[in-house]
Amino acid sequence: MGSDALERVPPPAEVAFETQSRLRHGVKRLIINPLANYLPAGLLRWVLRVTRSELAAANWYDPGGWRSMVISYEPECPQIADKVLVAAGTVPMALRNRKRLAAHLMARLIERAAEQQPGHPVHVLCLGAGPGQIIGEALSQTSAPAHATLVDISADAFAFGRELAARRGLGDRMKFVQADVRDLHDYLSDPPHVVKMLGICEYLSDDQIVTIARAASELMPRHGAIIFNSLSDAHGTDRFFRRVFGLHMIYRTPEALCELMGRAGIGEFRARAEPLGVYHVIVGRKVARVGA
Ligand SMILES: C[S@@+](CC[C@H](N)C(=O)[O-])C[C@H]1O[C@@H](n2cnc3c(N)ncnc32)[C@H](O)[C@@H]1O
Repeated sequence: MGSDALERVPPPAEVAFETQSRLRHGVKRLIINPLANYLPAGLLRWVLRVTRSELAAANWYDPGGWRSMVISYEPECPQIADKVLVAAGTVPMALRNRKRLAAHLMARLIERAAEQQPGHPVHVLCLGAGPGQIIGEALSQTSAPAHATLVDISADAFAFGRELAARRGLGDRMKFVQADVRDLHDYLSDPPHVVKMLGICEYLSDDQIVTIARAASELMPRHGAIIFNSLSDAHGTDRFFRRVFGLHMIYRTPEALCELMGRAGIGEFRARAEPLGVYHVIVGRKVARVGA
């Protein structure tokens, strides 16, 4: 296998995923998705407004922002519309699967990095981190010494994130930096052993991904790890998300995304799919100097 090749591997057996039966999948494909995709958008928005859907409101305020992630991660919702959208919707289920898979993989990456440099804490850099739910879960899953820098453009993600970190006893291990991830060099000097770019590539252009990955790669030690995700339209409701939520996601195969990362000196990719086939969580390694 070449250093920039992509290897697909099964997800770890110990991660508990959400799945759906063939019957539920068939009902969604033949009945629910066409209704969601083709009923008038104004009517669907009205229904979501009168049923006080928090997921819809979060997306109208900031399409695909951190609030909609927080709502999607919690299937027990008070509003009736969200009970359907969040608990049973394919994308929120897949998001919860991605979070569990990514947290598990990050905990293992941290442990491996800690073994390679005994006595030194592992530094994790989270780009577009939101309130830090995934890294919080990863840090809680390992006793390896590690701390994280969380970068997000949204200041209010951090008020929520600080509270969450304190509740988990991680307050002094998670540092929040409000900044644009495109300006990495301006605020980061501490080299990251693990870089996380989850839930962000689907909102970035190819050039933006390469620029950010290059900046991260320049800071990483050789063989440092980067974790990111691809997104497939296998959920079948892209038209609904665009028309009703105003959410414009960019779909890329694992291969397409790894090709972009490869331009930033990242290789040795290993991709794991969550069982709904919407997300692949991919781990790559810094294999070359940027521009080399
Ligand atoms: C979909 S959320 C993902 C949050 C988290 N990574 C997760 O997967 O749960 C995307 C986050 O990226 C942040 N973001 C988007 N563009 C950004 C930029 N240029 N610089 C920093 N943060 C950005 C948003 O504010 C938001 O919190």
